[in-house]
Amino acid sequence: MKFSHLNLFIQDRIATLKLNRPKALNALNKEMIMELHQAIEFLDENNEVRVVILTGEGEKSFVAGADITEFKDFNKEEGRALSATGHTSLFNRISNATKPYIAAINGFALGGGLELAMACHVRIASTNAKMGLPESSLGVIPGYGGTQRLVQLIGKGKALEMMFSAKMIDSDTAEKYGLINKVCDPEALMVESLKMANSFIKNSGDAQAAIIRVVNSTLEGGRGFDSEIKEFGERFGSAEFAEGTKAFIEKRKPNF
Ligand code: CAA
Repeated sequence: MKFSHLNLFIQDRIATLKLNRPKALNALNKEMIMELHQAIEFLDENNEVRVVILTGEGEKSFVAGADITEFKDFNKEEGRALSATGHTSLFNRISNATKPYIAAINGFALGGGLELAMACHVRIASTNAKMGLPESSLGVIPGYGGTQRLVQLIGKGKALEMMFSAKMIDSDTAEKYGLINKVCDPEALMVESLKMANSFIKNSGDAQAAIIRVVNSTLEGGRGFDSEIKEFGERFGSAEFAEGTKAFIEKRKPNF
């Protein structure tokens, strides 16, 4: 398959999906979300592929969030639709995939980027990775599942601190919190991810698909995700959202 902002390699039953839009630190725009959706549909139906590794090109960024330039002028309805489409076409699609997804976090995983890593089933991060949900610094909230999945992974207190402070944490802290499964040197990231993928392949794929379904049956769906979509949309059109996104584009601190 050919993509503009993704590279897909398949070898020995492991697919590696690499995000490649370096000029914007792999920020997720509409086109990337559609390409990821197509790749995931293809991988889900490909019986030769048993595990998928999702990573970013280079050592600077996994994904620096949703593309702020794309949504800064959205109204409430467009904001709500952005979140809802992201949930159904990408984030829930990965979370409910028929095979394990490993996020290999090679740098910044912020906002929608950390949400993408959290939609994957497990996470390995390099020592230079930085993770956070900085949406409140823009006057918005996490809109791609972050309010639900961060709480599930690290608990309410730490999750709220991360969302309120908008600060990034390093890989050691993320491992301590249980946000990631493992930390390794940048040059070992793909080796460690492949090692983990190979340890999964040894076991029953049917059983793993069932494990994903059963684990998600208690954790996914329900009112939390619906509430996130609604509240995400509500922030659009507010004065603080306008100030937060304008400040980012003008490379200055917002005045809230
Ligand atoms: N959207 C659009 N462009 C982005 C971006 C984003 N999320 N993140 C980075 N970029 C762009 C920058 O604007 C810059 O572009 P120019 O060269 O044209 O100026 C380029 O990528 C390189 O970025 P920086 O110069 O800022 O690089 P840095 O090393 O100084 O800083 C960073 C890196 C700390 C990651 C900083 O880029 C940053 O804070 N990015 C935004 C992070 C963020 O707020 N993410 C959340 C987005 S909202 C969201 O995701 C909502 C949701 O849940 C659905």
